[in-house]
Amino acid sequence: MPQAAFNPIPPILTAQNPNWYILGAGAIGCLNAGRLSSSGCNVTLLMRKGTLQTSLPIIIDRDGTRTTQRLPVVTPDNCKPISHLLITTKAYDVHDAVASIGHLLRKNSTAVLMVNGMGIAEQLRKDWPHLHFYLSTTTEGAYSIAPQHIQHTGQGETRIGRQGQNAPPPWFHQWSRAIDSCFWDDNIESALWAKLAVNCVINPLTALHNCSNGELGQRQELTEHVATLCNEVSNITHAAGFEQIAAALPQRVASVIAGTARNRSSMLQDVEGGRRTEIDYITGFLLRVADQFGIDAPYNRALIQDIKNNAH
Ligand code: PAF
Repeated sequence: MPQAAFNPIPPILTAQNPNWYILGAGAIGCLNAGRLSSSGCNVTLLMRKGTLQTSLPIIIDRDGTRTTQRLPVVTPDNCKPISHLLITTKAYDVHDAVASIGHLLRKNSTAVLMVNGMGIAEQLRKDWPHLHFYLSTTTEGAYSIAPQHIQHTGQGETRIGRQGQNAPPPWFHQWSRAIDSCFWDDNIESALWAKLAVNCVINPLTALHNCSNGELGQRQELTEHVATLCNEVSNITHAAGFEQIAAALPQRVASVIAGTARNRSSMLQDVEGGRRTEIDYITGFLLRVADQFGIDAPYNRALIQDIKNNAH
């Protein structure tokens, strides 16, 4: 495979170009660590206590080309104070992972949360009220082949925002240069909900029926499940105040199914890999909202139970 190697000269730290610590070196964490670093950002991987390496190679395969970059590694025991943090762990690991580095975070440290599902930011804001949290959602396609070795399968879009902040912060300029199709979104809650609604339909169904995303649009018994689920998710979405997302949900789901037909959803990959799923932060979050509005959601309730019984 053709190789492209980067050995960036460490850039000077400024408000526009601070040192980014990456918490969660999975597929999305490595993809963004690699891109930020190769565009000239200072990037450090935050690994678990006990990690002995002081640097690790990040390998990204894309369209038959391999890019390798060696990035510095620190652990919560030997890390300097953190001013800028990118969180890319699994949803259920976020809280403990942030707690493990809590002593390194300063008043007004910036944390970008790029995690599947919803409901995590509220908890983080409660426990670390002094931090500046930014929310992010991405449609990048990437999966791990081995630790810190990822396959980048599809160019997606990354949106970042913060409730009540219309203009991007100074560091965002560097991100928009480093990451293709990276946008500041002054309505990030809508972007997160739009992704959540699609995930509520595609992820549990593909995980339960052990099928590719495309099969949801082809097999008749599955298209019926998709329609029933879209209806329920759409009702809850509407009640939560996202009327346009609710109205467009069936078309949006159909277009994601067609556009990612050959993909196996992240939840199906978790089930196949014997990992815990993120269902509590996807369907689980949706059901908590349904309860707030007194909406019955029997189909989603049955699905979450089936996933927990069969896959956890
Ligand atoms: O979680 C996933 O896998 C993705 O968000 C999506 C859109 C369902 C495509 O596989």
